[in-house]
Amino acid sequence: MPGIAVLDSGGQYCHLIARKIRELGVYSEILPIDVSAQRLKEFGGIIISGGPHSVYEHNAPQIKADVFKLQKPVLGICYGHQLITQMLGGEVKAGKRKEYGIANIRIMESDSIFSGLSKNEQIWMSHGDSVTKLPAGFRTLGGTEDCKNAAVADFERRIYGLQFHPEVTHTTRGTTILENFLFKICKAKQNWDPAGLGEKIIAQIRQVAKGRKVYFLVSGGVDSTVAYTLCSRALPHESLEGLYVDTGFMRKNESVDLRNMFRKLGLPNMRIIDASSKFLNALGDVVDPEEKRNRIGKLFFEIQEEIVEGLESKSKNWVLGQGTIYPDTIESGGTSASAVIKTHHNRVPAILKLEKEKRLVEPLRELYKDEVRKLGCSLGLPKSLTDRHPFPGPGLAIRVLCAEEGATARTHRKLRRIAKAVGYSSCILSVRSVGVQGDSRSYSNVAVIGGNAADLTAISKISTNITNQCIDINRVIFCLDKSVVVGDLRIHKAFLTEERLNLLRETDATVHKILGDRDLMLDVWQFPVVLIPVSRASSNGESIVLRPVCSINGMTAEFSKLPLPVIREMEKEILKLDGVDLVFFDVSNKPPATIEWE
Ligand code: XMP
Repeated sequence: MPGIAVLDSGGQYCHLIARKIRELGVYSEILPIDVSAQRLKEFGGIIISGGPHSVYEHNAPQIKADVFKLQKPVLGICYGHQLITQMLGGEVKAGKRKEYGIANIRIMESDSIFSGLSKNEQIWMSHGDSVTKLPAGFRTLGGTEDCKNAAVADFERRIYGLQFHPEVTHTTRGTTILENFLFKICKAKQNWDPAGLGEKIIAQIRQVAKGRKVYFLVSGGVDSTVAYTLCSRALPHESLEGLYVDTGFMRKNESVDLRNMFRKLGLPNMRIIDASSKFLNALGDVVDPEEKRNRIGKLFFEIQEEIVEGLESKSKNWVLGQGTIYPDTIESGGTSASAVIKTHHNRVPAILKLEKEKRLVEPLRELYKDEVRKLGCSLGLPKSLTDRHPFPGPGLAIRVLCAEEGATARTHRKLRRIAKAVGYSSCILSVRSVGVQGDSRSYSNVAVIGGNAADLTAISKISTNITNQCIDINRVIFCLDKSVVVGDLRIHKAFLTEERLNLLRETDATVHKILGDRDLMLDVWQFPVVLIPVSRASSNGESIVLRPVCSINGMTAEFSKLPLPVIREMEKEILKLDGVDLVFFDVSNKPPATIEWE
């Protein structure tokens, strides 16, 4: 399958490039930037991604010089564009002006890579350095006001460089540019179809298992269930066992539902490992979200190691299975430039050791999530499974907010001015939540507004106004009870307890039942429900925040404007639960807020 190699310069968009190419029906693989020319021989074209470095920095990522001797088509994007031009004798300098965001390119040559485009097109830029002198054989295909050489090419050698990012949706004709590179320049064939991979993967599973027993770590999510299904079709059922670690942070009836789902799908043998008290003990006094995540991650590693060691003492005649997907492998150091992102729990040392010993089976390790969904459908799995909303590994633990001490709501001058102008009351709570502002993480107090909830679109504008004008606020929630004077709200001292987890579990189940009954499950991308230790002035209860979002890949999101009667129905049912005082609706987008609160 001669696909396209995407060389990783460390840019966050590397996966977007590889996914876009696969969506266009061509296989693509992400490889380290310094991969040997020999390894690249099998590919029909090479793309060098963007990245955070400057080409003239010490230790800047480099491609091997003999890659050009392969005479394959090459496309450099952003850093890749600068790297190519510098390596071939051009010049790159720090630009007088940096360009971030949307720009317009004037196209001088509209055949080849720009075929089908107009003279002026919207593109998306994010760079400080610029190509100031072209190598011999290159010419400029297009430029912007601030970047003369925004697109360059050596037609004879089929080498192209783009300063902008064709892989992001803000480059309006980006897909056409990539299509031109694939089909006009690389002459690639459209033969990649994840739905048709079932038989091939089944054969691979048999080859790895070689008659040994497969123990498979399942989570109940789409990936591990699709992977387990493939194993169950590849192996005799007595040779397969599913291992499910119950952290105690899962949704209501998750373990029972999982067992039933396995039974319904004809999937054999599932063992539940109850680790809930270990997890709860580890988190009892923690308020800080990062600390919570670290402790959960560490414990998960330890439990996985324990499981592997326990199996090890049986015999070595077994193989471990996991539902690892492509981004997990890459982000955990599959390529050198991406090593710093994060280590996923499915890449702990005990597992890497098994991988070395060829005792690890990961049927989906080359697929993206949307491809796993397509494959799942082609295996006949129900849509209720393949369309399941994403659920974070740390589970409900990061949706139960804690507070070290009690406090009362505060006023915030700028916030009050903005809210008052539209007739809303407002306050700041000392409960903090995570956000993304200016490309970095923020952890700020939450703003509350209250009043008539006539129109969520109007409220959305107010929320954006607030977060744009008050840099110390990253999230705004709307109080659904208009009789409440939000300035009177109180915060209570609270930690992660079984009781609070159970309350959130009930609420989450109530919300999702209504969502399902109203046939709205696919109208939202994900619907976190969050418990915050906030009550009316006169009470000791808790509050619930509804956080439905629309998104494509979770990187950015808008809060979902669900029909108000449905939100009201949810509020009414939630208030019937013992201990809930108030219900809020999260009216923040990502950025500036993240989808999850912690
Ligand atoms: P944020 O909160 O960063 O979330 O906007 C984006 C998406 O990632 C999910 N998420 C996680 N998934 N382990 C996971 O498997 C995690 O630690 C984790 N944290 C966030 C989140 O639910 C959303 O879909």
